[in-house]
Amino acid sequence: MLRQPLLLLARSERVKKLVSTMPVSAGIVSSYVPGETTESAVDATAELIGHGLHVTLDYLGEDTLDVEQADATVAAYVDALGQLSARGLTRGAEVSLKLSALGQALPENGNKIALENARAICRAARNAGTTVTLDMEDHTTTDSTLAILRELRKDFPETGAVLQSYLHRTEADCRALAYEGSRVRLCKGAYKQPESVAFQDRLDVDKSYVRCLKVLMAGQGYPMVATHDPRMVEIAGSLASRYGRAKGSYEFQMLYGIRPEEQKRLAERGDTVRVYIPYGTEWYGYLMRRLAERPQNLSFFVKSLVSKK
Ligand code: FDA
Repeated sequence: MLRQPLLLLARSERVKKLVSTMPVSAGIVSSYVPGETTESAVDATAELIGHGLHVTLDYLGEDTLDVEQADATVAAYVDALGQLSARGLTRGAEVSLKLSALGQALPENGNKIALENARAICRAARNAGTTVTLDMEDHTTTDSTLAILRELRKDFPETGAVLQSYLHRTEADCRALAYEGSRVRLCKGAYKQPESVAFQDRLDVDKSYVRCLKVLMAGQGYPMVATHDPRMVEIAGSLASRYGRAKGSYEFQMLYGIRPEEQKRLAERGDTVRVYIPYGTEWYGYLMRRLAERPQNLSFFVKSLVSKK
């Protein structure tokens, strides 16, 4: 019930200013984000890979209306890919990126600029021996993101997509993307979306998640099951068996710091598990979405804010 008000509150500039003065080491921040530097992210990657997990790195930042900032984001990804490669980690680690951080929302030529920036990162990823997945943001960007994905896949067919089960359109999008070689991460969706386009009731979102999972598991692509929900994890395993999928022909994905024991348990039983590691100074929007999903963390959050440690 607290989810929508929290997502609205997160858009207040005053709240943002107050929260952003917290150091990344503050308990609540560091439980979701390993650090602000590339080195901290690459160290966290090495540790998780050492435990038999896979990783996707996300350099935090979104809604850029500044060409230079978009260029800086590209440079940050190229640097991260270079460091992953230098430390021999690219077999187990890829990168995830938000097109809005690459200029998608720029008033002039936003899509073209985001496409070219994403292309530069795909090229760096290919040179480093790994892949890119395009995150999905609010519903106003879905068509543009899928169009950019189609363009990127002409040269980099290994590029992954994200679909959100809370959107009414997503089952159809899953059908369109369930082809051979297509990597699709299915999540429930993290943004506040209107009733006209998205299911509002959690049960409806879950039912849609299961319908989408069926399409992806029955299809020819590579499903990436991104959820911490124990029921969805179990259903994904059953569907994989029903459709005769061997382990390694799909994977589970969870966020850094959320249900780490479950991440290890799944990996130990032979599943591929990828941990999404966000890093960088722009952790505010990401943190607020995680808090909105988990209002139980609010008291912990308020304590961190008051003590600012
Ligand atoms: P749900 O929110 O129903 O939670 C199920 C259970 O998981 C909870 O009961 C609790 O036990 C645990 N849990 C969930 N959130 C927690 C938290 N914050 N802290 C502690 N425990 C928690 N969204 C999006 O819109 N675009 C995207 O590109 C992505 N990308 C993405 C990548 C990956 C790898 C993951 C795992 C998720 C995303 N998401 C995303 C976020 C996603 O849409 C969704 O908001 C969250 O994963 C929470 O949904 P769950 O499926 O975990 O279920």
